[in-house]
Amino acid sequence: MKCKICKGKAVIKLKRHNIKLCKEHFNEFFIRQVEKAIKEFRMFSRKDKILVCVSGGKDSLVLWLVLSKLGYNVTGMYINLGIDEYSEKSKTKVINFAEKNNLKYTIVDLNELGYPIPELSKKSRRPECSVCGTVKRYYFNKIAYDYNFDVVATGHNLDDEASRLLGNILHWNDEYLEKQLPVLPAEGKMLKKKVKPLIRLTEQEIASFAFLNKVDYILDECPLSVGATSLVYKDALNLIEEKIVGTKQFFYLQYVKKLMKRLKNKNNEKGDIELKNCKICGMESFHEVCSFCRLVRDEK
Ligand code: FES
Ligand code: ZN
Ligand code: ZN
Repeated sequence: MKCKICKGKAVIKLKRHNIKLCKEHFNEFFIRQVEKAIKEFRMFSRKDKILVCVSGGKDSLVLWLVLSKLGYNVTGMYINLGIDEYSEKSKTKVINFAEKNNLKYTIVDLNELGYPIPELSKKSRRPECSVCGTVKRYYFNKIAYDYNFDVVATGHNLDDEASRLLGNILHWNDEYLEKQLPVLPAEGKMLKKKVKPLIRLTEQEIASFAFLNKVDYILDECPLSVGATSLVYKDALNLIEEKIVGTKQFFYLQYVKKLMKRLKNKNNEKGDIELKNCKICGMESFHEVCSFCRLVRDEK
């Protein structure tokens, strides 16, 4: 197997692009895809302070590394979710990775704050993953606001977004469908812009990049996510991709294009929805009491 560019030894075959590449040219391809997403969707510039949400998994660690190599001003933020051994292991991976690559980071510890996810989920009688989503969103917004970040970046990839899109279509979740963009604008003063620079890359490409560049990430999945329906949608899309190469990319990226066009027209017609300050914690919210405070209050 030979690299299409230099004819050296190829280490990977990219089916959807119909090319084989050596390590050096695969890295170049990979980084180009990240830069392309950043520019195409106007995610951020080198002047911006970027908060990268890191979990210890391959996607977020790779994103953190690539953005720092590209010269962006990045700081990692890790949330210790209080999920026993899994959280301890992932925290160690994040700290070791940051030290090895000389990266800045900050940690929020839900055990110390008294909000470990399993406990919060039991007390509020809400599913763990939904509680986890609310708490994570709250702290990413809060830290980004408190420490003056311009943008919050997450490691969602093409598989994540395509499978979420499929799930939202299968259930006709109109409200969520409208939010499936790689960039969500800032709202008010406190809720910063959210971006997903890895959306042009698949899970497999990211895993290959991590392997070839010795990114030491946590292999275990979160034990609370076992049986998540999103995994079924990912499998279904992989099955189709096997037979019809390029489907995943076409499905998600074309949807984004169409949605952006539609929203542009719509935004010209309607005014902004007003944000309020949460009565309890002061963060901006669309309700009198923000969803985090409602969650934490429900437990009592
Ligand atoms: Fe949030 Fe597992 S990572 S519930
Ligand atoms: Zn090559
Ligand atoms: Zn609040």
